[in-house]
Amino acid sequence: MSGSGWKFDVPTSGSKQLPPDPRYVEALSSQGYGFEVAVADLVDNSIDAGARDVVVHFLRDGDRLVSLLVVDDGHGMDEDALDVAMTVGGQRDYAPGALGMFGTGLKSASLSHADAVTVVSKTKRTRAAGRRWLTAHAVDGFRCDIVDPGYSQDLVDRYAGRPITWQGTVVRWDGVKDFPQHGGGGQTDRYLTRVISRLGLHLGLHLHRFLARDDFNITIAVEDVRTGTVYMDYGVVPLDPFGYPASGVTGYPRRWTAPVEGLGEIALTAHIWPPKSNLDEYRAVGPVQERQGFYFYRNDRLVQAGGWNGYRQPDQHLALARVAVDLPPSGGDVLRLTVKKSGVNASPAFAAALESAAYDAEGRGFKAYLDDADQAYRDARKRSGTVRKAVIPPGRGLPPEVRRTVQEELPVLYGEEPIAVRWDRLGSDLFFDVDRENRAIVLNQRYRAALLGGRRGGLNDAPVLKSLLYLLLHKVFESEYAGPREKDNLQLWQAVLLSAARSELDRADDTADGPDGAGAP
Ligand SMILES: Nc1ncnc2c1ncn2[C@@H]1O[C@H](COP(=O)(O)OP(=O)(O)OP(=O)(O)O)[C@@H](O)[C@H]1O
Ligand SMILES: [Mg+2]
Repeated sequence: MSGSGWKFDVPTSGSKQLPPDPRYVEALSSQGYGFEVAVADLVDNSIDAGARDVVVHFLRDGDRLVSLLVVDDGHGMDEDALDVAMTVGGQRDYAPGALGMFGTGLKSASLSHADAVTVVSKTKRTRAAGRRWLTAHAVDGFRCDIVDPGYSQDLVDRYAGRPITWQGTVVRWDGVKDFPQHGGGGQTDRYLTRVISRLGLHLGLHLHRFLARDDFNITIAVEDVRTGTVYMDYGVVPLDPFGYPASGVTGYPRRWTAPVEGLGEIALTAHIWPPKSNLDEYRAVGPVQERQGFYFYRNDRLVQAGGWNGYRQPDQHLALARVAVDLPPSGGDVLRLTVKKSGVNASPAFAAALESAAYDAEGRGFKAYLDDADQAYRDARKRSGTVRKAVIPPGRGLPPEVRRTVQEELPVLYGEEPIAVRWDRLGSDLFFDVDRENRAIVLNQRYRAALLGGRRGGLNDAPVLKSLLYLLLHKVFESEYAGPREKDNLQLWQAVLLSAARSELDRADDTADGPDGAGAP
């Protein structure tokens, strides 16, 4: 190889235009958006349009869910603006403080979750107009449909009074992939309960600063399109990840400033939560290992809820540490928002800035904050007087939330196979059995239906019962041999639980006999 003649610039001999093949729509719609993240993306747009009222509307036709709509009373769009809105990357001009920045959210969030997205809008000065992207048409040469003006007006009128008065926008998703396809009304109800609670938490958390204002509301509602019955109508409440009643350590929150290369000074507002809080603001944000760390805000919207971004590893002892960071208008290459706006990619320059040059007024480094948070956590453990012994964690059969809570509350014996809890056939003289070989607590299948009281069984059914048995029995798996004391306990629990389970069976039979069977003297 010759050592000379390296071309530092690649020589070219002209250029040609190569627009993306329409097949690109498929890539656009498979960016792995979570359902809540995608809906939040639509609400961001409503906020940018100056909306005060946003309604997330699930429409059902009897047992079947048919559409999801996000409706707002923002400034709306005329025909030209609609074309820009439906174009991938179409928007170029953003007001200062806008949440939008890539020009793709509406399209990619929608088509990741629905086969079609229809946008109908009305401004104070123009009639209702609409556009629709159907994945099938988009793939065929980016063909966007023009919605019939009469229908556009109808859809706007449907929301006349709430939330639309003079202006507003309706985004409608059809063929939503997340909706249950089979199963009856029961399944639809369960899906709605689950998804609405998750969506409420997600919107409540990420938009908590907006929701805290008097003039901004998000409502989640379910309506039956045939009967017009409204099933749920639920106002999203703000979930402030810094919303503790009193700081865990006096003197906090405190501000540190980090001079980040290329960005200037970035303020870090360091908080220490009071230990052992049961508030949703503390607990509902996510698992403990992920709740600690940085909370990045961009234009008042939370874009990352916890995580240390390469600065350090998460640690149980830092459970109380949360740091609020308002991102500068342009994060440059150091703090880059992901396209889904559900995280920040920090370059090593960020960690370096924290490591070497973060001082508060008294000249203490950022590490001092971590030490304070760590100390507060340990003191609380000590104050409670007892040191909790390490346990073998629960495994299959208990819902992930419960497994997580055990791991947060107790030190865990690492490398140990977790304890499963399952139902199986057992003799009529047993309520439970300890299967040491397979490391499982086995519950007697014959009592399952009675204990479930009519609810459906499943891998993670009866969580309260299973948690209680885990708490009673985990020690049995942690010691090699059972002493006489333990054997006696096992016998006692077996007898009491067995008689309780039999009584559940009797009661179940009573209710099956008819309404008079239960509770009659
Ligand atoms: N509810 C709405 N009301 C008014 N205008 C809207 C609404 N939704 C979308 N738009 C317009 O459509 C444009 C494109 O929206 P889209 O979400 O695709 O991208 P963006 O918000 O510009 O950027 P990002 O990709 O960061 O979300 C917006 O910039 C806005 O002008
Ligand atoms: Mg957007």
